Amino acid sequence: MSDEVDDRVGRVSRIDVEAVPVAAPLWRRDFPYEAAGEDEVTRRAFARYLVAGAGAMAAGNVGIAIWTQLRSINTGEPSPIVAAGEIAVGDTYLFRYPNESDPAIALRLDEETYVAFSQKCTHLGCVVFFEAEDHRWHCPCHEGNFDAATGRVISGPPTRPLGKIDVEVRPDGQLWALGRVEA
Ligand code: FES
Repeated sequence: MSDEVDDRVGRVSRIDVEAVPVAAPLWRRDFPYEAAGEDEVTRRAFARYLVAGAGAMAAGNVGIAIWTQLRSINTGEPSPIVAAGEIAVGDTYLFRYPNESDPAIALRLDEETYVAFSQKCTHLGCVVFFEAEDHRWHCPCHEGNFDAATGRVISGPPTRPLGKIDVEVRPDGQLWALGRVEA
């Protein structure tokens, strides 16, 4: 069989495998396809990559789902925050809990009652701050608002309440963080 030249596109349209000379470029010796079939091979290879990519993505998603179910969540060890008397009624106190990289905020609601929350908004992680006049935690990034006492969502894009931290005032007058409360 001899090579034929496709006059319209000016290229070789058929290649006889046996006839490919040893001196031909390596790529042609390794892939001795007919030019007419090259498109088909490319489509097939593309489809193969597509299936492999979709399979890898599906496997990745399953892996992430399993990891989020199995990972241990750091709820934190009991640790002192500050002398309770240092926070005035209606005031807040910033601290870090359960780790140094986790911003948290405590609020004294009245003489006896303290609450504390993770300062990270549950929407996209911006920092919330207290708005006394509206009695709420406010996230300025997308106008998310949470109830000051419970951390539940009042308005805005967040769908989950703020991460609550159990606190108590101990006999020595220190306000303690006891652990993160899982929603
Ligand atoms: S990050 Fe808080 S509302 Fe979007």
